[in-house]
Amino acid sequence: MADFLTTAEKLEQFRERDAKVNAMGGPKMLEKQKNLGKMTARERIDVFFDKGTFVEIDKFVTHHSTFFGMDKREVPADAVVCGYGKVDGRTVFIFSQDFTSMGGSMGEWQANKICKILEMAMAMGAPVVGFNDSGGARIQEGMFSLSGYGKIFFRNTRASGVVPQITCIMGPTAGGAVYSPAIMDYIFMVKGYGQMYITGPEVIKAATGEIITNEELGGAVTHTKISGYAHWACEDDTDCIARVKELLSYLPSSNREKPPVYPCEDPADRCEEKLNTFIPNSSNRVFNMRNLIKLVVDNGEILEVMKDYAPNMLTLFARMNGQTIGIIANQPQMMSGCLDVNCSDKAARHIRFCDCFNIPIVTFVDVPGFLPGKGQEWGGIIRHGAKMLFAYSEATVPKITVIVRKAYGGSYMAMCSKDMGPDMVIAWPTAQIAVMGAEGAANIVWRKDIAAAEDPEAKRAELVQAYDELFNNPYIAASKGHIDCVLEPKLTRPTIISALDAFKDKVDKLPWKKHGNIPL
Ligand code: HXC
Repeated sequence: MADFLTTAEKLEQFRERDAKVNAMGGPKMLEKQKNLGKMTARERIDVFFDKGTFVEIDKFVTHHSTFFGMDKREVPADAVVCGYGKVDGRTVFIFSQDFTSMGGSMGEWQANKICKILEMAMAMGAPVVGFNDSGGARIQEGMFSLSGYGKIFFRNTRASGVVPQITCIMGPTAGGAVYSPAIMDYIFMVKGYGQMYITGPEVIKAATGEIITNEELGGAVTHTKISGYAHWACEDDTDCIARVKELLSYLPSSNREKPPVYPCEDPADRCEEKLNTFIPNSSNRVFNMRNLIKLVVDNGEILEVMKDYAPNMLTLFARMNGQTIGIIANQPQMMSGCLDVNCSDKAARHIRFCDCFNIPIVTFVDVPGFLPGKGQEWGGIIRHGAKMLFAYSEATVPKITVIVRKAYGGSYMAMCSKDMGPDMVIAWPTAQIAVMGAEGAANIVWRKDIAAAEDPEAKRAELVQAYDELFNNPYIAASKGHIDCVLEPKLTRPTIISALDAFKDKVDKLPWKKHGNIPL
């Protein structure tokens, strides 16, 4: 007996159904999205993946809700486009919320689709990227949508450290919906329409009387500068997608791999004469650590993570001889490079990400100490600073420390001193490794001698010089192996590259444990 429909008719039926889902929320909603300057969920996917590589999963999934007339309402693809494809030839999994379909709201089945993508990515060992553009929990589905979020948080957490998880805030993200991005590794936000907050301006106004705009409360600039919750603020969808691809180029696909190595035209043995004169003659003069690092890494190229937050610390990705490295560096141009609460968190997170994903860590040091003051002490600098000590001590990837100038007191250790387990500590002749600067030391230790002297100022200068000559150099530390190698600055690039090569297969295992208890 022949089927009810012919093969040609079945094909036609498929094409009709497929087109209906592809049409998303319909022309009016698509127009609205366009007028806001936003791409649609499908356009974002088109721009993101290598041409013709995207495979959609669960395209015909529908919601099963019956409340409030939902049984009569179609929501194409349940307002999220999911699947996988290639980015620069490597597999990446994606979910892209479709705001044109019921505001991209999260129902039970949208959540199930996203969970499936997270599970596939974990099993395959490939990164997950999310394009968020949603009005949040689908109100008509009540607690089922909340449970959907919960399932996603659970899987985000299980995937943490297994595959890179990157999220782009390309529309509203409100309430508990912010917590999936918060658990993921990196957050990109688009200025103007990417917004995140737990409670919106209306609720805040009702609860506290405070008046604030959406953008001011939870826009890209707010979260990259003030809260430090997001890592990059982007101009528009195109800029955002390009930056995600750039980040992916530095990362391995999973914790089972090393990062990809790219052909490198910048010579591995390049000596950089400018470095020999880079450090100012006076310890009180600042210099730009970013520029110093650019002279060392491949082609002067860096990818800066959280550029606008805690700028006294630089957290970067770069390449050395084609190989990805993570960089932690003090920035003497900002707060003299002192360590504070925010920069300690920023650095510790970067160290831990690199360690999760087999990325060697290079630390550049010019640190005068922890920032003094009641604000820092009450803000928990002890706990936050401890995160850096913990993260460095726990990291088993190759670690290289380069001390270019000051390395004082506790901050010396927090910047991966020899005792924190780096494989190689390099110091420039300009390095000063001491408990504190000569001025402070002389004033504390010889305060009475200075006061009793006939000419206290001359005595002070004499003692400062004596302390400076004895301690403010790399040689005392080098005499007991706390520095492995004192180096002419111009040789920094070839020396780091050879150390990365020498230690690339090092074995460093932590004792068995469920997990450590980092001071959060
Ligand atoms: C169901 C929703 C929705 C939602 C939007 N829509 N959000 N439907 N549940 N959460 C629908 C609208 O009804 C509308 O449908 C369509 O999507 C487009 O929305 P508009 O309001 O017309 O768009 P716009 O003017 O651009 O405003 C966008 C918005 C607004 C600011 C996001 O829609 C809004 O305030 N939505 C509710 C946000 C919210 O409170 N979400 C719950 C957060 S709490 P029609 O049919 O008219 O086209 C939460 C808890 C999560 O998420 C907890 C996890 C643990």
